[in-house]
Amino acid sequence: MDPNLVREILTTKSGHFLKPKINPIWKVLVTGHASYDVEKWAKCRRIINPAFHVEKLKLMQPAFFNCCSELIKRWENIVGSSETFELDVWPEFQNLTGDVISRTAFGSSYEEGRRIFQIQTEQAELLIQASRTVYIPGFRFLPTSMNRRRKHLDKEVRSLLRSMIEKREKAIKYGEKNSADLLGLMIESNLKESEEHGKFEIGGLSVEDIIEECKLFYFAGQETTSILLNWTAVLLSVYPSWQERAREEIMQIFGENAPDFDGLSQMKIMNMILHEVLRLYPPVVLLSRRTNKSMEVGGITYPKGVMLSLPLIFIHHDPDIWGEDVHEFKPERFTDGISKAAKNNQMAFFSFGWGPRMCLGQNFAMAEAKMCLSMILQRFRFELSPSYIHAPYTVLTLQPQHGTQVLLHKL
Ligand code: HEM
Repeated sequence: MDPNLVREILTTKSGHFLKPKINPIWKVLVTGHASYDVEKWAKCRRIINPAFHVEKLKLMQPAFFNCCSELIKRWENIVGSSETFELDVWPEFQNLTGDVISRTAFGSSYEEGRRIFQIQTEQAELLIQASRTVYIPGFRFLPTSMNRRRKHLDKEVRSLLRSMIEKREKAIKYGEKNSADLLGLMIESNLKESEEHGKFEIGGLSVEDIIEECKLFYFAGQETTSILLNWTAVLLSVYPSWQERAREEIMQIFGENAPDFDGLSQMKIMNMILHEVLRLYPPVVLLSRRTNKSMEVGGITYPKGVMLSLPLIFIHHDPDIWGEDVHEFKPERFTDGISKAAKNNQMAFFSFGWGPRMCLGQNFAMAEAKMCLSMILQRFRFELSPSYIHAPYTVLTLQPQHGTQVLLHKL
């Protein structure tokens, strides 16, 4: 729980603290470079990084905007002529962030992307069911109906991705102008790397690797961002004065117009609100590492193979670090940025991780959340419905157990 030790572990020379080994049944979901060890991770991160640069994200603005517009249109239809309507926004945000990843990752192959998202959701449900039963080694190989379904889904995802990747690779090789989606950018960066090394297998990623990365985008980017939107809706309902301040900022920057990336990057109040939401409700509550050799941490020597748990959520709720008002929603903590937010002036905000393995999609997630909230706040005021039950619980991430029912009022 000591932020200095957490930072030390997350920044120590790569290779000394590794990601934990993944239970084989989770591998269909938790894959890609986030789970690789040092060498393969470094290669993948180098190739994927350019796809997340701010100027590339700007090219994805239309995709973000279209998805948010669809959400708003649906809400406007639901509200209809009545002034107020009750809606569970949790599944709404899950669908939105799934749509955003489908569009930004796969561009014109959006429909196939959407199918992949549906399959991964079903895979996650099957895995959660499996994890609730007693673990029997080798059981996953038996042809039970659940295991057969899991295998079938894995095959379908892979074949969809394989055909999309091969189609795109061919098009790029034959000189077709590349699209601004994550898959295209990743293939382009991969081809560049391969050319530099002269040979596909040495420099770049294989089709299999790219498949794993695409699956990772959904796993890492969909649920986490919908959780951020969800708890922001809850906290802005409980603190209407902050909802009003956010709306004022939106009106000042965009008026009634469509939000754009340049405007989103000017938002100060919204930035403070999102950081405070991420502090109180970090979507990823805990990071894990294992020692790869005997290592000293905080005066204690741990032998090779020890699992270390870094409980971000406890650090974010520690009154010694943040002050006695630690449990209160006070976005003003972040007025001077994240490095100055804690009372005792140490960097103790870890929602996106820290060090070389810090979240690759941080700018992506923040831009998406700002775009979505700006468009909602331009049109609606919202408050919690009396049927809402506050029950954050962790299913890998910090979700609302009974959904998030809010009352929407048309402005
Ligand atoms: C609010 C939203 C998000 C949160 C809170 C979040 C949080 C995190 C955290 C804590 C890590 C570090 C894990 C560790 O060190 O063990 C991480 C890694 C990662 N995130 Fe995110 N994430 C978010 C959104 C996204 C999005 C939208 C994407 C992609 C579209 C994404 C892609 C990744 C990737 C690829 C990694 C692995 C980085 C590496 O190992 O090199 N994330 N994220």
